[in-house]
Amino acid sequence: MNYQVVIPAAGSGKRMGAGQNKLFLSLSGTPIIMRTLLVFEQDSWCKGIILVIKETEREWFEQQIHKHHLTKVLSLISGGKERQHSVYNGLLQATSDIVLIHDGARPLIGQEAIHRVVLQAYEKGAAVLAVPVKDSVKKVNQTRITETVERESLWAMQTPQAFRLPLILKAHEIGAKSDKPATDDAELVEWLGEAVFIVESSYTNIKMTTAEDLVIGERLLLWEEEKRGS
Ligand code: CTP
Ligand code: MG
Repeated sequence: MNYQVVIPAAGSGKRMGAGQNKLFLSLSGTPIIMRTLLVFEQDSWCKGIILVIKETEREWFEQQIHKHHLTKVLSLISGGKERQHSVYNGLLQATSDIVLIHDGARPLIGQEAIHRVVLQAYEKGAAVLAVPVKDSVKKVNQTRITETVERESLWAMQTPQAFRLPLILKAHEIGAKSDKPATDDAELVEWLGEAVFIVESSYTNIKMTTAEDLVIGERLLLWEEEKRGS
């Protein structure tokens, strides 16, 4: 089995409010993005990383890649205004049969989950990691609840999302022509009318989005360590 992975890292991290790209922030001593990259560097199925960055941050990334002895980063590609544009730019460089798209902001992804989503993409063409929604979910107009959505059928999508390369390229080509941004890469494939399958993931694969996610993320790293030690 093998794959290449596109990692969008060209955001600005507005919701984190750190005044810089949130991916530069340290999670237990190592920048978030380096933790993400190291997971793929250490996965024998991963045959190449296409990292999507902002040009103004190229030097920082080059230094970090050198410092952490990363050998799998094939190229540093310029990102776009929205995540969708950044991913598309990265996908244009991909050459493997199966390509993964993984947010730079999810450093806690594990190899076992990566392999399960890759295997499902090989079989079905499109697969995404997801977890069952834990909270009750309701539609709200202003402050008034208008509808309760049945929770049994609700899943929260994560990354990696894994696809056969021609399928996701076509989906992004068409997506690029639409005015409406997609919420994730799977949605672009859904627009084509193609089936996307979920692979159950873990609640630990959180996205570093707001400040408290860093606190949770550091605790989760300790927990993983404790589990390995016992
Ligand atoms: N991303 C990107 N290009 C963009 C926007 C986002 O490559 N134009 C990347 C981010 O760097 C991140 C991933 O897409 O790794 C998921 O996006 P998100 O968590 O929303 O990060 P930001 O857009 O940086 O954060 P915010 O939305 O709070 O500004
Ligand atoms: Mg964003």
